[in-house]
Amino acid sequence: MDKLLIRGGVPLSGEVRISGAKNAALPIMCAALLSAAPLRLTNVPHLRDVTTLLNLLGGMGVAVSLDEKLGLELDAGRVHTPFAPYEMVKTMRASILVLGPLLARCGEARVSLPGGCAIGQRPVDLHIKGLQAMGADIRVEHGYIIARAKRLKGARIFTDLVTVTGTENLMMAACLAEGTTVIENAAREPEVVDLANCLKAMGANIEGAGSDMITIEGVSALTGAAHRVMPDRIETGTFLVAAAASGGAVRLRNTSARILEAVVDKLREAGARITAEDDAIALEMDGPPLSVNLRTSPYPAFPTDMQAQFMALDCIGRGTAVLTETIFENRFMHALELQRLGADIEITGNTAVVKGVPQLDGAAVMATDLRASASLVIAGLVARGETVVERIYHLDRGYECIEEKLSQLGARIKRIH
Ligand code: UD1
Repeated sequence: MDKLLIRGGVPLSGEVRISGAKNAALPIMCAALLSAAPLRLTNVPHLRDVTTLLNLLGGMGVAVSLDEKLGLELDAGRVHTPFAPYEMVKTMRASILVLGPLLARCGEARVSLPGGCAIGQRPVDLHIKGLQAMGADIRVEHGYIIARAKRLKGARIFTDLVTVTGTENLMMAACLAEGTTVIENAAREPEVVDLANCLKAMGANIEGAGSDMITIEGVSALTGAAHRVMPDRIETGTFLVAAAASGGAVRLRNTSARILEAVVDKLREAGARITAEDDAIALEMDGPPLSVNLRTSPYPAFPTDMQAQFMALDCIGRGTAVLTETIFENRFMHALELQRLGADIEITGNTAVVKGVPQLDGAAVMATDLRASASLVIAGLVARGETVVERIYHLDRGYECIEEKLSQLGARIKRIH
């Protein structure tokens, strides 16, 4: 298993390019299932989750090709097997995003239940309830969701909780339903808007994406389209936090401060000077950060996917920070590993109290999930001496060439096979 070896203490400096967003690319790739004509995508990140989804779609009959500029073409002209097996879904929860499109296009789908994951239970009951409201007949048998519908019917759907992939699944299904669907309490994440833009380019009739009420007027078929995937706001935030924690100065290209305002605000509070350009962000930091409190919440509030990275920053903050996690019930596993580097963290329920220490010391640590891994890398970059991060296959699910990009910024980091 690969590990990362990091020699900390170098302020990051220089410029890197931010990749396309994993959490936009995955639902958009699933949207290809909705049309018999090809969908051409650019700015798709090279990540393990993307490869997993390509394999899953390929198994269903979707033809996948890459053009000379690494654009991805997905041709779902013939979907012969509307089936997502457990072996694939268990490695990537986002596989559930095939459910809505398969049901709408093929009239049937058999998709494994994702099961629990390291950061919490994460059920998919709201995806199922929403599709049932649209007239689908759904049973859960032997760990599989078995869904059928001649043609889905538009419905008014209220989701009790704000769910990102739930909103995306229902929005995709509604594109081919008969009549109008209204999703209330919809997720407002920029990735939902990017998916809606791609669906609109395919001929869908969608209004309100980016607000908490999305209205979809169903059509009988969608066409092919070309779409460029939006930049990854979590990768952007991760590099900004890494630069701030290390006391560096970086410029990130192919991204925008507009998609992560809550994160930029917190970094300013920590003492960073941030300049937002049209398609780039620059950050400069002198000296150690000030501790910052945060509370995770659905967009546009502070994202749960940035909580672990800010905990690493707060470990060396001047002061004490209180971090509250409201989205996932078990998302502090990085805290125990950060303590191995000398961090002072106390956890009670969904709250972590982080007292800043002047210095972290390198140690061997183990990554437990995607964003937890990123926080350990950030801590390793600022720690004195050598840090070894094990189980980095989590990182490879969501960060494109992370060690190459960090090396480009002057970090002493290498992958050991
Ligand atoms: C998406 C993101 C993930 C991010 C999360 C929250 C993708 C591929 N993944 O995950 O990176 O951390 O949003 O911003 O976009 N819930 C239910 N029932 C459901 C669905 C969700 O109870 O049917 C609960 C979840 O357990 C969680 C909360 O709702 O407590 C929000 O989860 P959700 O927004 O659905 O997360 P994902 O879409 O899985």
